[in-house]
Amino acid sequence: MIPIRDQALAAIQDRLKPHEVVHCVRTEELAIEIATSHGIDPDKASIGGLLHDYCRALPHKVLLSEARRLRLEITDIDQAVPYLLHGPVAARTIPDDLPLDDLDVLHAIDSHTLGAAPMSELAAVVFLADHLESGRAGQYVAETRLRAKEDLWGAALDVMQEVIARVTGDSRLIHPRTVASWNHLVRIQP
Ligand SMILES: [Fe+2]
Ligand SMILES: [Fe+2]
Repeated sequence: MIPIRDQALAAIQDRLKPHEVVHCVRTEELAIEIATSHGIDPDKASIGGLLHDYCRALPHKVLLSEARRLRLEITDIDQAVPYLLHGPVAARTIPDDLPLDDLDVLHAIDSHTLGAAPMSELAAVVFLADHLESGRAGQYVAETRLRAKEDLWGAALDVMQEVIARVTGDSRLIHPRTVASWNHLVRIQP
């Protein structure tokens, strides 16, 4: 079961700032486009895109306490950067608030920041749409946005590479889930 779009939109309007809602709607729009070009359910892409940042605005203390309550694995990196938990916490708390029990959509929400290994097609769609939505500028984004509609996994590898380059460029720690996602994406390339 997935909620109707109006329910999902009202839920994020209640929880997020207006510019964050705009980002979610843009993510939804691109997720539908990418999904449609690969024969993936556009309704699931719509709800996954709209709700991916459902817990984005929770204070870090709350994200950590929710992650503990939900018995999520909390690495030292999550501890230092609790923001990284907003996807996993959303995937496990949304079903308490909305009629959403579709595991594919919840997996996509769970893995939109760090990826997953394995990663479903819908998760790749939401991951790509989050990074490439129309509010994000630049030639790289424009080119990869087009590529995502032709080569889902090639584009996902590209974006993951860009994410890792940014993290390593700033000498930040790489989350083990990102490393696992990267290895998975490399392995599944044709
Ligand atoms: Fe996010
Ligand atoms: Fe996002």
